[in-house]
Amino acid sequence: MNKAVVVNLIPITSPRFLGPELLTAMPDWQRVFGNHNPLVLEIGCGVGDFVAQMAALHPERNFIAIDYYNKGCLKTCKRIDKAELDNVRVVRAEVRGFMERCIPSGSLQGVIINCPDPWPKTRHRKRRLVNAEFMGFLSGFMRPGADVHFATDFDDYGEDVAGMMPAIADFANCLAPDLYRHELAGYPLSKYMRKFMAEGKRIYFVQYRKNL
Ligand SMILES: C[S@@+](CC[C@H](N)C(=O)[O-])C[C@H]1O[C@@H](n2cnc3c(N)ncnc32)[C@H](O)[C@@H]1O
Repeated sequence: MNKAVVVNLIPITSPRFLGPELLTAMPDWQRVFGNHNPLVLEIGCGVGDFVAQMAALHPERNFIAIDYYNKGCLKTCKRIDKAELDNVRVVRAEVRGFMERCIPSGSLQGVIINCPDPWPKTRHRKRRLVNAEFMGFLSGFMRPGADVHFATDFDDYGEDVAGMMPAIADFANCLAPDLYRHELAGYPLSKYMRKFMAEGKRIYFVQYRKNL
């Protein structure tokens, strides 16, 4: 007999949290946010410090912060509730399934991926979220002119993504002629970026724009 796996999720009661019952079908995002502002998705928001900074800097944009880490979603909600950021909603889910169910194709004005899990062991690299296939997947959900931001502290991940992006026909490099930079003015730092910078590591920033 199969043993049932019991996952104890901490309940999240924030009004800015979109529970799974609200995400079984395509949400009406204009209704969710109460306006027509462009949508930006942050993938793997962790504890939400980055999205809180971005949302305060860009009240003219709506941010969906997604992570499948329950405690992270709870901390993100607490942070955005405290700051009363009405342009953020938090989703606890795996990103690919969520996007297929809940994001209309060609609708996103931005996608942000900061310090995704690096899977440092060579035999685990295929588990990395960001690769050419994933970029193709993301492109289908992005508007022409939308930006994708990728940042990592992990040399090998940064070089791989920076090296593979020029071959993806849908996108143009915003940082050209550089494939990546170690500093990006105006881009807030996330918890993991700060942690790795404190250890003396460099961050790789990669930024591309979907062609018009
Ligand atoms: C290393 S942490 C970085 C957190 C944050 N972006 C930062 O820079 O501080 C990566 C986060 O991505 C989340 N994550 C990884 N793969 C994911 C997926 N497929 N769907 C949703 N979240 C994911 C993890 O749960 C984790 O919280």
